[in-house]
Amino acid sequence: MERDLKNKVVVITGGAQGIGHAIAIKFLTQSAKVIILDLNERKGNEVVKTLAAKFGDDRVAFIKCDVTKDLDEVSSKIFKDYKHIDVLVNNAGIANELDLRAILEVNTIAVIEWTMKFREHMRTDKGGKGGTIINMSSLYGYVCDAFLPFYKASKHAVLGFTKTIGHERNYSMTGVRVVAICPGYTKSQLTDNIKNKDVKIPEEDKEDYAEYVKTMLWQEVDVVGNATEEVFRVADSGSSWAVIGGQPIEKQHKTAHHPLLDIGRPYLSDSGDPHQIVSPPHGGPAYAASPGSWSPLQNFSAPTAISSTSYVPCPLPLEFRNSKGYDVQLILL
Ligand SMILES: NC(=O)c1ccc[n+]([C@@H]2O[C@H](COP(=O)([O-])OP(=O)(O)OC[C@H]3O[C@@H](n4cnc5c(N)ncnc54)[C@H](O)[C@@H]3O)[C@@H](O)[C@H]2O)c1
Repeated sequence: MERDLKNKVVVITGGAQGIGHAIAIKFLTQSAKVIILDLNERKGNEVVKTLAAKFGDDRVAFIKCDVTKDLDEVSSKIFKDYKHIDVLVNNAGIANELDLRAILEVNTIAVIEWTMKFREHMRTDKGGKGGTIINMSSLYGYVCDAFLPFYKASKHAVLGFTKTIGHERNYSMTGVRVVAICPGYTKSQLTDNIKNKDVKIPEEDKEDYAEYVKTMLWQEVDVVGNATEEVFRVADSGSSWAVIGGQPIEKQHKTAHHPLLDIGRPYLSDSGDPHQIVSPPHGGPAYAASPGSWSPLQNFSAPTAISSTSYVPCPLPLEFRNSKGYDVQLILL
């Protein structure tokens, strides 16, 4: 079933800039009403002024909000003023590897708490009208390389939470669809910090990480804005969607190669066949059917756009080495 954003009331956290701002613009062009929440009051007010001039005063609003502190106060105000919220986009996020608690509070705990509060408001079995919650995970919600362990922990958690709370069984019970978006590297203030080496990671990682990100495919924020609208239209509850390297989500869904990770160079089998992958030589978890057995890459469904709600007993990690010689692990979900 295709969904339509026309006149839907949408709340976007962290919408004053970057990906959240791009989603706001895209949704406004689809005639949604958008409420932007952000910590940054100056930017939020500026952005709303510009968007109101373009789309109309009654289409867009800004509320200053810290997602880690203001849930009760801000959600009460929103529910009172707007009666029914159709869509929540949990987008606010940080990438501060020097503050474990902050990263988990903003990227994970707030996402979970905001989801649960708005899900309660939307639930058809409790008098609500149903709705959609879109959680911003990341490529780093299911890919592991050598960097950003706290960020990855925060985003893996979002994916696990979203796929569970959005599970078909829970969707049937509540009428609340919950889906995740997993962007690859996207140009924003968050990633500018990496390029400027202002990135908040341990000193010992800075040089290697700066080199590593040069191997990534980069995309603009509007690509993620457009993809989010597409996901809103087509996604089943409990699904998650990758948006990587500016490529359309469907295309990513079909490809067995992962452009970001340069999977053209997996570990090679003894035969040297580049179309085969192998369990890691340094003895990673033995998920292969029999240890050391080779699994043809084409036997696996595409890891980059994961839309199945089916139950998978155990994630299946695949290890690769990208062209810079870094080990990269993909978990098929
Ligand atoms: N940029 C990327 O490459 C990339 C890739 C994958 C996922 N993401 C995710 O996309 C989301 C948006 O990131 P972005 O790149 O646009 O970053 P950004 O820094 O440009 O924007 C993040 C916004 O969130 C706001 N924010 C931060 N903490 C907040 C809080 N406690 N309460 C309210 N607002 C808060 C900031 O003020 C800012 O406006 C994040 O969840 C990020 O983890 C980004």
